[in-house]
Amino acid sequence: MSIEIRPSGGVLGHEILGVDLARPISDSTFADIEKAFNDCGTVVIRGQKITPEQQIAFTRRFGELDSYPAGNFALPGHDAILVVSNILENGKPIGMIDAGRNWHSDMLFTEKPPRCSLLYSLEVPHQEGQSIGDTLFASTAVAYDNLPESMKTRLNGLKARHSFRTYAATKSDGREKVGDEFADVIHPLVRTHPITGRKCLYLSHSLTQKIGDLDQAQTRQLAHDLIEHITSERHVYRHSWRVGDLVIWDNCSTMHRAIFDYALPQRRRMHRTTVAGGRPF
Ligand code: OGA
Ligand code: MN
Repeated sequence: MSIEIRPSGGVLGHEILGVDLARPISDSTFADIEKAFNDCGTVVIRGQKITPEQQIAFTRRFGELDSYPAGNFALPGHDAILVVSNILENGKPIGMIDAGRNWHSDMLFTEKPPRCSLLYSLEVPHQEGQSIGDTLFASTAVAYDNLPESMKTRLNGLKARHSFRTYAATKSDGREKVGDEFADVIHPLVRTHPITGRKCLYLSHSLTQKIGDLDQAQTRQLAHDLIEHITSERHVYRHSWRVGDLVIWDNCSTMHRAIFDYALPQRRRMHRTTVAGGRPF
């Protein structure tokens, strides 16, 4: 089976055609998928019909499984699958409702954030015949390359401190149990991709508390400016979901954001799997 790549028109979000994840994938086909993925950081595989077991098996091709550490939104019987959904059953959420309305990279608040995440759509909300609940993806690698040289020099070598606790305290629904197990973490602000060697900007809208020796206001300003730059139109792909889409994103070379423009009875339900990663450097 040979795959075909349909470019998105932008720098990421290319579609991979000719893959059926319900069937075994040969090593050479997987190598082609992985190469396309590493090259652009976010790829889309549409029209899939896969079970949780098949999603987990495909995810394992990328590496060890990781699981989401906060809250309890695993699919019953499948610890490796995080349910992302706005659906309530017996008045209780079946999954994580707010999986990231602000620009972020998954689990940046951990010592060893995941290499990549795979999100498979089972239910997609619609309005007037159009799908809603899109997700935006931005390339932190191309954004780095497009910085002025003086800015690259200024940022290289800086460390940033990220705090999940401070962020969680601002969330009102209190669904995420957050205890002292989430100490602040320090990562390089410019990190090197472990496979491609590319430099990538690494920070988050909600979590980044301190950059280098800047004070709070200066940190806020720099983080704001960098995220504005990363998320400018030329670095972004907007994914409009259909049932059966699998989107795979790299948590080093991209960031993403969910557009929360739907509400029950418009239902959205997705299954996320996550691949472990190493300590950023
Ligand atoms: C996630 C996430 C975005 C979305 O699952 O990590 O950010 O649109 N999801 O659901
Ligand atoms: Mn996310």
